[in-house]
Amino acid sequence: MHIKALLTQHIEAVFAELGLQSPALIQAASRPEFGDYQANGVMAAAKRAGINPRDLAANVITKLNSNANFSAMVSATDVAGPGFINITLAASFVAPALTVAINPTPAPQTVVVDYSAPNLAKEMHVGHLRTTIIGDSVVRVLEALGHRVIRQNHVGDWGTQFGMLLTYLEDSGNESDELSDLENFYRASKQRFDDDDDFRDRSRRAVVALQSGDANALAQWQRFIDISMSHCAHIYDRLGITLSDDDIMGESAYNDDLAGVIEALAAAGLLQRSEGADCVFLDQFKNKEGLIQPVIVRKSDGGYLYATTDLAAVSHRARRLEANRALYFVDARQSLHFKQIFAVARAAGFAPETMQLEHMPFGTMLGKDGKPFKTRQGGIIKLADLLDEAERRAAALVREKNPDIGLEQLNQLAKVIGLGAVKYSDLSKNRTSDYVFDWDQMLSFDGNTAPYLQYAYSRIQSVLRKSEVDPTLLPSNAIAEDQPERRLAVCIAGFNDVLQQVAEEGYPHHLCAYLYDLATRFTAFYEQCPILVSDDAQRTRRLSLANSAGITLQKGLDLLGIDVVDHM
Ligand code: ARG
Repeated sequence: MHIKALLTQHIEAVFAELGLQSPALIQAASRPEFGDYQANGVMAAAKRAGINPRDLAANVITKLNSNANFSAMVSATDVAGPGFINITLAASFVAPALTVAINPTPAPQTVVVDYSAPNLAKEMHVGHLRTTIIGDSVVRVLEALGHRVIRQNHVGDWGTQFGMLLTYLEDSGNESDELSDLENFYRASKQRFDDDDDFRDRSRRAVVALQSGDANALAQWQRFIDISMSHCAHIYDRLGITLSDDDIMGESAYNDDLAGVIEALAAAGLLQRSEGADCVFLDQFKNKEGLIQPVIVRKSDGGYLYATTDLAAVSHRARRLEANRALYFVDARQSLHFKQIFAVARAAGFAPETMQLEHMPFGTMLGKDGKPFKTRQGGIIKLADLLDEAERRAAALVREKNPDIGLEQLNQLAKVIGLGAVKYSDLSKNRTSDYVFDWDQMLSFDGNTAPYLQYAYSRIQSVLRKSEVDPTLLPSNAIAEDQPERRLAVCIAGFNDVLQQVAEEGYPHHLCAYLYDLATRFTAFYEQCPILVSDDAQRTRRLSLANSAGITLQKGLDLLGIDVVDHM
């Protein structure tokens, strides 16, 4: 059920009938006394037409009420304030939504989602957390709605640093143990590279060998990639990330396409030589002085760049994967890069006009001091260490609340709560801004946090257990007219609206805000409406409502990649 879309259609149809072209601007009501939804678009429409907004609102309502489909949806529609329309849904309309079914989209698309993409020379660190978590959540939502999603893990596996790493690996007798700590391995090879002329020369030759397809170099490189990818796979597994080996489509995979990219750019008349390098100059990329900033696609030494690979990737996604949309969950600092890539790709015809190319940028994770999040010594925080700490802190919390808990249950809870908290604190913020990583806030049982939602879920399970009914046998079709039961039911009915929004815009924080609102409404209901002590009809209705709220919480958290537990 898509309440917002339905209300929007009805109101915009009336606008059109009145000769007005204006958005309805439907929102969930900001306060319970305003009904369930409000339409905010009348004021702007009236202003444009030069008429009184309250008159227009009244006129719109009259027309709405004469439409049988609309009347079946609502129980009341009122003019409010300077020209808002407040809408109260009919119980009979809301009731079917309590089955909490996710509606498949009527227009499924093929969507490529580019996310995670660590550079394999190094271990995954906090800088990879946001792309991995946010990307995975949007993927889950798109799939739940029935889109065909193609994950693309565009790992950095092909830079010049691999010459250095392979030479160092060779010097250390090709021992895989050396690679158990990639961070140290990278640092040590870099040190040797800086200090030792002979090593440097051999490293450079190794890059040439690798990039020209030397079988031995490639075999060593593959080994390095496999080990380094297994570190990532371990992190993905811990975090419940849905990426698998089949989704790896790293920079190296485009190596053979790069010459073709240059040819195609030349054929399209886009290529210019500048200071020995091959560049594309597009008018829209002028700097402050009015000079066009070129996109370099081949260096004067013949080497290709990150940009060249991304152009090849656009083409692959358009032609071979036949994507209708490609979403890139990559740090906001790469915004200019993607603007350029998309513009060049369009100009060269690598992607048809009908294919959407969308950079989904995100800000930086900051420490409490407002600076990029680092270890106390100022070092890069490894993701594995961060996750260990999350579980440790969650275990301490759980033990504090429940000192007698068994070890197995403690570990399981620590994992679900700790990792859920880390993920949720990221997902719940608008991704475009920087956000402050704060252990105490994310592990709090109050406020917009994972533990709060998980706790609400476990409370529901506890009531259901005590009731001794089989939740799957509960009818889910009755809605009380009284608050806060009604408020909770209406919120549950809005689930598909928010999923739709996340799929369209790629902002999982809308789903978080929705689930938080749901949990808050559940808490109000739970505190004010006795469930187990009331009469039969009431008891069944309330149990069923609680059950629907639990299912919505569980499904919603699952789409964020967060688990729930029955006992907390
Ligand atoms: N490996 C890159 C980095 O760590 C991210 C790749 C993002 N995806 C892409 N198609 N450029 O910065």
